[in-house]
Amino acid sequence: MESIDAARIIGYFKGKSILITGSTGFLGKILVEKILRVQPDVNKIYLIVRGTDALSAKQRVDQEVIGTELFNLLRERNGKRFQEFVGEKVVALAGDIISENLGLEDPMVEELAKDIDIIVNIAATTNFYERYDVSLDVNVMGVKHLCQFAKQCSKLKMFMQVSTAYVSGDRAGLIRETPIKPGESLREGTYLDIDAELRLVREAKKELLFNAGDDAKKTERKAMKELGIQRARHFGWSNTYVFTKAMGEMLLGQLRGDMPVVIMRPSIITSVQAEPLPGWMLGTRTIDTLIIGYAKQNLSCFLGDLSMVVDVIPGDMVVNAMMAAMVAHSEEKGAQAVYHATSSLGNPATYAMLYEAGRRHFYQNPRVGKNGEVIPTKEMYFFTTIARFRLFMFLTYKLPMEILHLVNLLLCGRFSDLYNDMNRKYKYVMHLVDVYGPFAFFQGCYDDMNLERLRSKMTMKTPEDQMFNFDPRTINWEEYFYRIHIPGVLKYLCK
Ligand SMILES: NC(=O)c1ccc[n+]([C@@H]2O[C@H](COP(=O)([O-])OP(=O)(O)OC[C@H]3O[C@@H](n4cnc5c(N)ncnc54)[C@H](OP(=O)(O)O)[C@@H]3O)[C@@H](O)[C@H]2O)c1
Repeated sequence: MESIDAARIIGYFKGKSILITGSTGFLGKILVEKILRVQPDVNKIYLIVRGTDALSAKQRVDQEVIGTELFNLLRERNGKRFQEFVGEKVVALAGDIISENLGLEDPMVEELAKDIDIIVNIAATTNFYERYDVSLDVNVMGVKHLCQFAKQCSKLKMFMQVSTAYVSGDRAGLIRETPIKPGESLREGTYLDIDAELRLVREAKKELLFNAGDDAKKTERKAMKELGIQRARHFGWSNTYVFTKAMGEMLLGQLRGDMPVVIMRPSIITSVQAEPLPGWMLGTRTIDTLIIGYAKQNLSCFLGDLSMVVDVIPGDMVVNAMMAAMVAHSEEKGAQAVYHATSSLGNPATYAMLYEAGRRHFYQNPRVGKNGEVIPTKEMYFFTTIARFRLFMFLTYKLPMEILHLVNLLLCGRFSDLYNDMNRKYKYVMHLVDVYGPFAFFQGCYDDMNLERLRSKMTMKTPEDQMFNFDPRTINWEEYFYRIHIPGVLKYLCK
């Protein structure tokens, strides 16, 4: 691999046409902004956006992508020319990856097929407990449709699939950057057949329709969510999201032919660390749910061992790694490179660092209640097993709540408000346990040797080169959590 510096990355995107999915989401916006900022001479950036027609897709891109604070730096740099510049470069396409040809009309497909150099699939349904049919449609069939589309692109140089490090499951020890083989599952004795899973869903939906009662839609939603979890656990994954992302990777491996493919697997993506807007983020997930719960003082205790590692990686570093990897593997016929965009091996962050940063932040910037009173920052207690935590929750909250429920019935609903409030808080905490539990006790460590090899090819001599830094060892996590991430979560997620 030749050496890579900023000039080479920037130069690579000159005159290229790039099709990106998932641009209205968190990571997608960071990529679109970065390409436009570093390479104004990119030919076109086509954004597949769900919308009823071209106008609604354009409106979504204007409001949800270009119109966000993340683009302020680019807006400032371009001054009055900003709208014109973006209008020339960014093309919003109303489409949906769950449909063949991405839901685009044939003439558009033909036109794009002649123009596209790079495809970046960022779109996904990231809900851990999504309906199985929906997850399969987006995270698996979406990859298939993009792959089929990619094969029509006469000058395609790169297909990048954004996956997740958690496709490897909850295993302990060193987790390598290896592709998922056809049929591979995490449970011994099982063979994962994607077609069989698709058939299973079709059959289940047919049966649900046949037995449909008054609440058919609700019943179907519940059944599809349950089926997703059941199938995920059957094959050894903890939730529907990571399970279907794994199937997406598997299918791409089977269908890619000689297309140059890069699979980027980030761990937990956190707020922008450096450029263009430190602290910027979108969407509340995993550790941010905890930060928000702590900020609102809804959480007095939670799960976790503070000495354990939480594998996080800032969104801008993920994008830098994606851009460098695209350059490194462009036009490499038949290549399939897998990268972990992770930090646990090179520079592990611990839950203790995150918690200390949160305490420090809230002691120095105490929260203020509705009437202007200062809310004292409480210490949080951490349970080191899920069983102990559940027992605590049962004895402290669930049992008194059930008694209150009975009293409330006897007193004709006098305590309904109190009961409903307690019940809401209880459900919120238990939901966090479901979502966050697997992360809290995760004992794996992501080997990022492939990414390290790519890093070693990067020359970091000029300030411009630093713009493409994706080395988590350059981050002081305590300071990042304290000065950038926690203020970012409070500013952008707790508006
Ligand atoms: N965030 C993390 O911590 C994290 C960690 C590891 C890996 N990842 C991966 O990184 C990628 C981006 O994650 P994110 O956090 O940016 O996700 P996100 O904010 O939830 O955004 C998901 C994007 O996918 C789009 N999308 C969903 N279904 C689609 C469909 N059928 N057709 C076209 N577009 C569709 C969404 O469009 P709408 O606006 O129309 O819904 C949205 O733009 C995902 O592939 C995810 O698996 C994320």
